[in-house]
Order: sequence, then structure tokens, then C-alpha cells
Amino acid sequence: MALQDFLDQLDELGTAAETAFGAAADTVALEAARVTFLGAKKGQLKSIQQQMGSIERADKPTAGKAFNATKGRIEAAFEAAQQRSNNNTDSDSTASIQFDASLPGTTFRCGNVHPITQTIEELKDIMGRLGFSIVDGPEIEDDWHNFVALNIPDDHPARDPLENFYLATADAISGDKNPVGLLLRSQTSTVQIRVMEKTAPPIRIISLGRVYRPDTADATHYPMFHQIEGLMIDTDVSMADLKSVLRLFATSYLGDDVTIRFRPSFFPFTEPSVEADYYWNGQWVEFGGAGMVDPNVLQAVGYDPEEVTGFAFGLGVERLCMRRHGVADIREFYKNDVRFLAQF
Ligand code: PHE
Repeated sequence: MALQDFLDQLDELGTAAETAFGAAADTVALEAARVTFLGAKKGQLKSIQQQMGSIERADKPTAGKAFNATKGRIEAAFEAAQQRSNNNTDSDSTASIQFDASLPGTTFRCGNVHPITQTIEELKDIMGRLGFSIVDGPEIEDDWHNFVALNIPDDHPARDPLENFYLATADAISGDKNPVGLLLRSQTSTVQIRVMEKTAPPIRIISLGRVYRPDTADATHYPMFHQIEGLMIDTDVSMADLKSVLRLFATSYLGDDVTIRFRPSFFPFTEPSVEADYYWNGQWVEFGGAGMVDPNVLQAVGYDPEEVTGFAFGLGVERLCMRRHGVADIREFYKNDVRFLAQF
């Protein structure tokens, strides 16, 4: 191709492109024009560039310079058109939804884990580090696991219908005088029995979960709450082990060197039994019950009380969480008010 023809074509292309970009009325038209002239594969500038191959060697530098100049010209025309199009959109409020970064925003609200669940996770962590593994038990229990195997006799007040959520079984509904006792478990000590029935000693477990008692809800009572139950059985477990484990546990959870004290108490399934109190933030606070597993319980699950001993404890999870965070009323946990729950 002759140099002059090439230069003429470039000139025409430049003018055509400027006209087209100038006339493009909206972003769609502008994009179409861009593809026509600047398209990387089939754009007209590209096809002119391909013709450079047929230009005399001596003319090539001139042709190349002219090509670059035209390319710059077309690109400048496109950018100017683009700029104009942006300005138009800015001033045209109906054209599209506008983003105004200066308007006050709304923070996106992100859910968080319920404080009791957070506490449970932390307690699992702490006890896991002390070598206790985590087991689960059912919330609907039978007479055997909730009472009999735990050495709670038939006439014990803990069995009172006013103290338990008994479930109406088919037998009860049909008027049977002696229904199969099913109830919502009143304590996680049921899990001690379930574990010992299935596992030979040594045992070192904890179990965390819901328990149910028909208490009237007030600042410190709720008909459903959570317990952490611990059980350790081996050939020479003593009360001193119980005390150390509970002390380490309290120190890890409350983050202080808390002092622990045992007060004599009574539970049918431990002998001796104690209430564990922690001295924390200037006062003694009761955390739950504990004791050495009663020989009758060991026997009920087929262990030999002459061979093995063990301790058990049961602490209230809500109470621990309330102490740690200064929550005064247990009912707050179950109102589902995000203003409260989002603070944890
Ligand atoms: N189960 C008892 C309660 O609910 C607590 C406890 C557990 C006491 C284990 C001693 C041993 O009050």
C-alpha cells in the first residue's frame, strides 16, 4: 500500500471516530462506538494497523508515527466522550440509583453467639485442657437414670411432681397407676450413669446441657437452665483431686486466683457431699454441688466400690456466666432482646 493512501485512511478514521464518539447519546452507544473503533480484535484501528505490513520498508517509520498519532487522537475522543457521559449521569437524578458516600450509613448488624453458648464453649475448652472429654446425654430421661441409679429412693422429695417436669406417657394417659416414668431431666447427673454403664473405669468426662425444674422464674431461677457435670473415676481418686480440679477450673474461668471452699452438704449420689463456694470479687459465691461418688451409685452401674473411687460435680452454667459478666437477672438470657445479647 502506498504511504499516502495509508495516511489518508488514518485521517478519515480519526474524523469518523471523533464524530461517532461525539454523537454517542448514552453509555450503550458509546460502548458500541468504542468496539467499532478501538475493539482489540475487530476494531477499525486494528485493521488499519494490519495494513502496515504492506507498506514500503522506507516509509514504515512515517507510517508508524502517523498510526500512533491517530490512535492517540481516537483514544482521547473516547475518553472525552466518556467523561461527558459520566457528568451527565451525575446530574441526571432519574438516570440510575445514585451512591452518595456522604450520607449517614447504617452499620450492618452481625449476629453473635448466645452468651450461654459462649460460656459452654469456654468451659469445654478449660475442662478439655484438664484432660476431661465431653459427652452428651438425652434431655428426656427415665426414672432409672434421673433417680434410681443415682440412689434417690422412691419416697425422696426430689421425685415430687412439683419438682419435676414429668411427661405424660401413653400409660399415664390410659390411666395406668404406675406409668413408665419419663421426665425432662432435672440434673445432668443422669449422664454420669449413662457413661458408667457403657464404659469401664478410668473415666474423666464432663457433660454440659439443659436441665428443667418447674421453678417460678425470678432473678436467680428459670425453669430451664444449664449445668456442667463432671465425673472422674479411677483407682485412687480423692477429695483432694476434686478440690484441685474445681480450683483450677475456677481460676481458669474467672481469670483470678480464686479461693475455693467446701461446705458440708447432702446429695443422695455422693458421700461425702459438699457445696463449692468461690471467694471472688470480695465475696463467697455458691457455684454448685459436688462430692465423692456414693458406693451405691458405683454398684448400680456394676463397678466395684472396693476397687474404684471417684468424684462428681454439677455447676450452674448461667450462674458462672452471670458472675463473670455481672448479669443480675437470669431472665435476661432468655428474653431474646438483642440489645442485651449483642453485648457479649
Ligand atoms: N446434680 C446436683 C444438682 O443438680 C449437683 C451435683 C452433681 C452434686 C454432682 C454432686 C455431684 O444440684
